[in-house]
Amino acid sequence: MHSFKELSDIFEKQFSERHFPLQPASLYDAAQYILQIGGKRVRPVCVLMANELFDDLGPDAFHVANAIELFHNFSLVHDDIMDAAPLRRGLPTVHKAFGDSTALLAGDVMLVQSYDFINRIQPTHVQEILSIFNQTAREVCEGQQLDMDFEKRTEVSLDEYVHMIELKTSVLLAACLKMGAILGGSSKHNQDHLYAFGKNLGIAFQVQDDYLDAFGDPAIFGKQPGGDILANKKTFLMIHARETAGATLRESLDEIMSGHSPDKVGKVLDIFRKCGSDQWATSLKETYYAKAMQHLEEVAVVASRKKELEMLARFLLQRDR
Ligand code: IPE
Ligand code: IPE
Ligand code: MG
Ligand code: MG
Ligand code: MG
Repeated sequence: MHSFKELSDIFEKQFSERHFPLQPASLYDAAQYILQIGGKRVRPVCVLMANELFDDLGPDAFHVANAIELFHNFSLVHDDIMDAAPLRRGLPTVHKAFGDSTALLAGDVMLVQSYDFINRIQPTHVQEILSIFNQTAREVCEGQQLDMDFEKRTEVSLDEYVHMIELKTSVLLAACLKMGAILGGSSKHNQDHLYAFGKNLGIAFQVQDDYLDAFGDPAIFGKQPGGDILANKKTFLMIHARETAGATLRESLDEIMSGHSPDKVGKVLDIFRKCGSDQWATSLKETYYAKAMQHLEEVAVVASRKKELEMLARFLLQRDR
């Protein structure tokens, strides 16, 4: 069995080969740009790890891993347009560097390319994988729409928020693990528990993402500090602060949020801190982490084989970018 580091190196080596023709460069350079500036490659590694839990790594796992990383990057390029985000992975976002229209097309062409990889899977598996892939992709779209709908609302409950991030973020992580397990020939029982492991881990992952957006070290995080505040996102920090602040503090929070003060982000972060929303992050993360680990325990393989997934889960919760 391989470690996370080994798997991400193996993945990167074959993924870094050029995916697109040279012309028109104005389109394909934009796609190559986002693919080459890095990323943690967490999702494809999940596919590979889940596959290796049950069998030796096979070519199909790499096809799915490539498809997933392309899909993920497609979703990020479109997400950055939707979120009006200027920075990703420490560099200008695709729409900032190449313009909105090219960014849309570069995203589209990466999505098409991801289906090309799915199409290379053995015929015995292609239908099942494709239907999970499609279901997941639809759910990501639904989550992304809810995320934007929430920007226009003042009140969003924690339950609504969790439902939204399950769709926009968790199901993809969950599907990666399930697809890897299917390709490894695992039982339905194991597939389902890995899916549930990924789903809970994905919620914890998005909680950390929201936390870093507000409190991360800008030099490491690679995205615009306070981007969620500027985009009026109902992150769990905002939901917690609005729920726990007294009437006066909540009014001033709402007032700052509806205005355009040059120090809007700083002022909102102060209120988050006053409400203890930053510390609350840790407990919320741990709750979902614990749920995730219960499902991992149910996966019927010897405990030592699950070590790498356990380490990956810890890494995702403690990550600083
Ligand atoms: C960012 O995902 C999008 C979310 C679902 C929060 P990652 O944090 O995995 O992004 P990269 O690929 O490592 O840049
Ligand atoms: C993005 O969530 C989820 C998808 C791309 C589907 P975010 O908007 O929080 O991701 P970042 O913070 O821009 O990476
Ligand atoms: Mg975003
Ligand atoms: Mg977004
Ligand atoms: Mg985010």
